[in-house]
Amino acid sequence: MRVKTLKDVDLRGKRVFIRADLNVPQDETGRIVDDTRIRASIPTIEYCLQQGAAVMVTSHLGRPKEGACTPEDSLAPIAERLSELLGRPVPLIEHWVDGGFTVQPGEVVLLENVRCNVGEKKNDEELARKYAALCDVYVNDAFGTAHRAEASTVGIARFAPVACAGLLMAAEIEALSRALEHPKRPLVAIVGGAKVSTKLTILKSLAEKVDQLIVGGGIANTFLLATGKRIGKSLAEPELVVEAQAIMDMMAARGSEVPLPVDVVVADEVSALARANRVSVDEVGPNDRILDVGPKTASRYCDIVAHAGTVVWNGPLGVFEYDQFAGGTKMLASAIAHSEAYSLAGGGDTIAAIKKFGVEKDIDYISTGGGAFLEFLEGKKLPAIAALEARYDG
Ligand code: 3PG
Repeated sequence: MRVKTLKDVDLRGKRVFIRADLNVPQDETGRIVDDTRIRASIPTIEYCLQQGAAVMVTSHLGRPKEGACTPEDSLAPIAERLSELLGRPVPLIEHWVDGGFTVQPGEVVLLENVRCNVGEKKNDEELARKYAALCDVYVNDAFGTAHRAEASTVGIARFAPVACAGLLMAAEIEALSRALEHPKRPLVAIVGGAKVSTKLTILKSLAEKVDQLIVGGGIANTFLLATGKRIGKSLAEPELVVEAQAIMDMMAARGSEVPLPVDVVVADEVSALARANRVSVDEVGPNDRILDVGPKTASRYCDIVAHAGTVVWNGPLGVFEYDQFAGGTKMLASAIAHSEAYSLAGGGDTIAAIKKFGVEKDIDYISTGGGAFLEFLEGKKLPAIAALEARYDG
């Protein structure tokens, strides 16, 4: 993957348009619940300011109706948070597509929700040309939106005088490529979550590259079914046992296997008050739900992680939100944190687990991408990265 990066570009006195992903979760009053993505976008903005650029930043927030944005769609709370983090004013500019606003070198403005602009989502060429006309340098720092081909992520990259990756985008590309394209072996992938169906392409794509594939959560239940185990009332997709078997066969053909749980934690309901029981995988009753792996299984997975060169992690092993079903995911998180392997994690649930178990600092790279991270794992070319590659001129 070859893209021009911010540090390859002379920014002094230039008008710089940064497409960031500041799409952060908010509560019903609009208060920001997690500002990780805003913080992750700061280094690029600060670098551009230090270089003496006139800086425009924009992002989407949610999925508003184009041309009919409401106050809830506004980036106002983001402007406030950016201003606190940068320690300087960050004016919010509305109706900015045709210009008519000023920003001096060494100043930064935030351009209102880019998805309010008609034509953004379908990557309208006229709109992309208007964005491009606002700047001398286009910087894409929105890895989280790199799987969307929109006017501010793809179209503008064709028409701006210069198009490059921001520091966050470059770090994401480097971390993901390091883990998946040039990994230190053995490469271990852990894919958890509720359903095989949502992760089928990822599982197949990983089964072609990794040395060891660990599955967790409801996905593991479908794999257990495929091996003839009884799983009671556990979440699973019986219609996908053939696919699960095919993935196990792919790993077997490469001299590996998909290790499945030998012990599990079961309960008859998923709730904070549910009574958890540890049982052998052969003792799951007809009314049981498997909600976590047992300690023997977790130890086996931790051993695999301990001997890995690279670990890629997406998805928990159990319903870790409830403490009685958190043991497997907690042991795994700790094993990844303590392993010498290069570790890469991503996805909303995985990040929530990492935070719950306090191992953020010990994971080598935590991606800011949700859907984008998953599509990268699937082996897809992300359109916004492809657009930057197309502008690479050495
Ligand atoms: C995300 O939160 O995954 C990104 O910001 C992309 O948002 P989208 O799914 O609305 O395109």
